[in-house]
This record gives sequence, structure tokens and C-alpha cells, in this order.
Amino acid sequence: MKFYELPPEKRRALLASQGLELADLDSATLAKMDQLSENVVGRLSLPVGLVTNLVVNGQSYLVPMATEEPSVVAAANHGASIFTQNGGTKVTSERQGIYGQIVLQAADDFELADFEQSFPKLIEITNREFSSLVHHGGGVRQITARCEHELVYLQVLVDPAQAMGANKVNSILEFMAEKLAIFPEIKAKLFAILSNYPSQISRVKVQLSVQSVGGKAVAQQIALLSQIGETDPMRGVTNNKGIMNGVDAVLQATGNDTRSVEAACGLWASRHGQYRSLSSWRLEDDMLHGELSLPLALGTVGGSIYARLDVQENYRMLGSSITSQQLAEVVVSIGLANNLAALLAIATTGIQAGHMKLQARNIVATLSANDTEKQQVLSLMKQDQNYTQAAAQKYLIEIRKAK
Ligand code: MEV
Repeated sequence: MKFYELPPEKRRALLASQGLELADLDSATLAKMDQLSENVVGRLSLPVGLVTNLVVNGQSYLVPMATEEPSVVAAANHGASIFTQNGGTKVTSERQGIYGQIVLQAADDFELADFEQSFPKLIEITNREFSSLVHHGGGVRQITARCEHELVYLQVLVDPAQAMGANKVNSILEFMAEKLAIFPEIKAKLFAILSNYPSQISRVKVQLSVQSVGGKAVAQQIALLSQIGETDPMRGVTNNKGIMNGVDAVLQATGNDTRSVEAACGLWASRHGQYRSLSSWRLEDDMLHGELSLPLALGTVGGSIYARLDVQENYRMLGSSITSQQLAEVVVSIGLANNLAALLAIATTGIQAGHMKLQARNIVATLSANDTEKQQVLSLMKQDQNYTQAAAQKYLIEIRKAK
């Protein structure tokens, strides 16, 4: 039997027989994991931390974040609480749909204008074929086309309703491509696939009193840092990493596809012709104005979301009836909250003080020590504000000697 044909227990037994050490995992969990992926041999779990009060468009949310980096959840809470003190975030969204691409090879006598005349009928046929999507409020909205060097590029806009929609859109595109390939002026179908080109844009704005960020001097620093990120890609990309810290953690918690959002955001950051910060902060009339827009093709329904009980629990925290637009509005707000917290830290104490304090728990967890010793080591690290691995080892030796 090939490895992928074995049940997961057998795969693990095979690895163990080759000397690989594997942690215990019960067969019920393994069976669940096996339904989710391929060649399954284990499970990776992440802590879920909570943002306890994020106010978006006047509505308060509990926001679950799945990440191994403790400072990410702390930063999101810090930023969100400053936003809340200032009335929360205001977010608008454009959610016309996500894009798909069909590329065809045209014959010499191809006329784009003639070909375009078939589009309304094609949309009608496709929406009839995929009537369940139409029933849920989605469907094919628009086809646009261009012809370059005998290649016809079709851009298809599909509204996936409340789903991420990748599989559905691919099925739709393949169906449409089959219909188009029979036109005599089309020589061949080259490909038909969803595009991760930025779509489903959410835009968040906040207005913060300078007092709430620690005074005018700090606000000025934040605005200056933001300006640097707009012209210097070296800073811009790190600024954006801080935003994606928050974005990815909520996407993970809600079973959304982090890779597609990351890919789209990377392109979105270059939309002005040069890579730059996704966010911007400026000081005007003693108010700090923050803005961020992100392409967030997210879903709140679908097989990969329903199949995961851990993800379902997170939806209960967010509010089970949350729409994909509301989720995107929460995500873009969290992105800006993480960004503000990072800029605040950089503009004041520097990033390391807070980071290392939070990382101390991870360092202590790696010690070969019992729980009481670990607690004592953590207290000493905090007392001396020394958060290195070497310090943790030193404190452990001292604690043991003192016994
Ligand atoms: C670290 O995970 C993220 C930051 O580097 C972001 C930033 O510099 O803006 C703190």
C-alpha cells in the first residue's frame, strides 16, 4: 500500500518503526484530521487568544485570534482599547465579488466585439447551472475581455455570497471555458482559474485624540513613522508584517485562507507603483487619523469552516450570525489595531521590552523543570526584567541551589 492509502495510525506506526518519536494522539482526533487533509500523521494546535472589546461601526465584538506569538494578541487588545476609547472604528466595504480568469487562444479571424456579444447569454446560462449560489445571493456578475497577441483574457467577476468561494469559482470558470471553447474563432482553451487579484476591499478609519496615544509628541512620531513607511519599502514591509500579524491570526481562528489574503495584500501594497505601507497615520487638528484598506476575500460558511469544531467555537465568540462582510470589517480593524500598537511601542519604549516580557513564558516552557520551578523562574525574570534564555537557566540553577 502507498503511504497515502494507509490509515493515519498505520502511517504513524511506520514513522515510529523508523525511530521517529511521536507524541500521543487519540484515534478519534486523528480520524478527524484525516478528513481535513492528505497524508495526515499528526495535528498542529495553536492557542486562541481573545480581543475582549473591539468596536466596529458601533458594534462590539469578541475577536478570537489563533497565533503562537503572544505579543500579537496583546498588541491587538492594546490598539483595540485605544480605538474603543475614541468611539471605535468606522469601516466601509466593497464586496462585488472575486475575480476569475479564463485565457483562450484565438484564431486569426477573431473579433473581440463579436465575441463580447455572447457574454450576457453566457452569464445567464452559468447562473442557471449554478443556481444554488444564486439562491444564496451570489452568482456571476460581469465578464470583461481583452485580446493581446492572439490571446483572449477574460476577467470574470463572481459574487461568492458568504463563502470564500475558491472551489465554486473554479467550477464556474471551467464550465464557462468549456462553453467558450466551442466558438469557431477560438483555437484552444489555455486555462480557467480563480485569480487572487485584490477584491472585496474593506477600508477602516479611526480618529484618535492625541491624549489617548500618550500625547502630541508620540502622535507626531507615529505620523512620521507612517510617512517613512510610505516611501521606504524596507520600513513599509515591516509595518505591513505587523498588520498581517493581526489579520492572519483572525483568519486562522475563523478557518479562512491566510495564503490568498497574504498574496492579495502583497499586490495591494504595490498598487501605487511602488511597495509601501498598507496603513497611513497623520496628525491633523490634534487628532491622529489612521487608515487601512485591505483586500479581504473572506468567508463565514463552507465545508472547510463547518468541518472544524475549533473554528465553529470561534464563530460563537464572534457571533454566529456574523456575515463575511462584517468579518472582513473586524479583520481590517484588528490589522489597524496591531499596527497602532506596534507604532506606539516603536515611538516610545521600543518593541523589545514588551515582546521579551511576553516571550518569557515561551522561554520558561522550554526549561526541564517542574511547574513550581518554572513559575519561580518567570517571577525572577520579570523582577529583574531579564528575559533571555541564559537568564532563565541561571535562575533555575539558583532556585535549585537554594533548596
Ligand atoms: C513584529 O511581529 C511586528 C512589528 O515589527 C511591526 C512593525 O515594526 O510595525 C513590531
